[in-house]
Amino acid sequence: MKKVTTATLMAMKQNGEKITMLTAYDASFAKLFDEQGVDTILIGDSLGMVLQGHDDTLPVTVEHIAYHTASVRRGTQRAMVIADMPFMSYATPEQAYASAAKLMASGASMVKLEGGRWLFDTIEGLVERGVPVCAHLGLTPQSVHKLGGFKVQGRDAEQARVLMEDAKLLDEAGAQMLVLECVPSALAEKVSKAVSMPVIGIGAGAATDGQVLVMHDMFGISANYMPKFSKNYLAVTGDIRKAVSLFIEEVQNGSFPSEQHSFN
Ligand code: KIV
Repeated sequence: MKKVTTATLMAMKQNGEKITMLTAYDASFAKLFDEQGVDTILIGDSLGMVLQGHDDTLPVTVEHIAYHTASVRRGTQRAMVIADMPFMSYATPEQAYASAAKLMASGASMVKLEGGRWLFDTIEGLVERGVPVCAHLGLTPQSVHKLGGFKVQGRDAEQARVLMEDAKLLDEAGAQMLVLECVPSALAEKVSKAVSMPVIGIGAGAATDGQVLVMHDMFGISANYMPKFSKNYLAVTGDIRKAVSLFIEEVQNGSFPSEQHSFN
């Protein structure tokens, strides 16, 4: 079994093969996702909401992510394991290096951080020091208070221009993957074509290089709330393994996300 690496993901983008990503927080789900063939597993700071029951991701710490990353690592053989850098754990490059060191030592093969051009030096510094980076633009949940809620981003021309410029800059800084969350499908398509790194969408239409869902959303077990961009694959299949395998199939054949799960 060949491990998924940054080279694998880059080749998939170049060959037009869609990349799949699911969040996981423990060894059992990580093993199940890995066995079904999910390419990348994200220990998202969404764990603050779906595991810990907070209203947002802000209370999550590096220690929380490190604990769950070690569990996921133990369950994973093939998929790339990506750990989220929590709120304020990368406010300066030095802080980012210290946080990334803990997460990589816990078993991550890449770290993810939220934000635009202000992260140029941090990303460049992490990559120079051997840490692969996944950037995250659009709806960046750690900025929920600044954004005034969990809202679609990039709908007006100026926001779209800034987002495109940020994506190009972070690509230049050396980021090896980009999560684009809740942006209009047409903008996500343009960004995916404009950058060399693979772009993984969530609420960003079907034209990105891959798709990610929060596992609790795709099983329909998130407390009280189902985002428009998510799909309850457990309800469709009635079985966890079949749900994951259908998610992979629909991402690969381009039928997920449909218009119903996307934004204009
Ligand atoms: O924290 C998370 O799970 C995420 C995904 C929604 C991409 O950032």
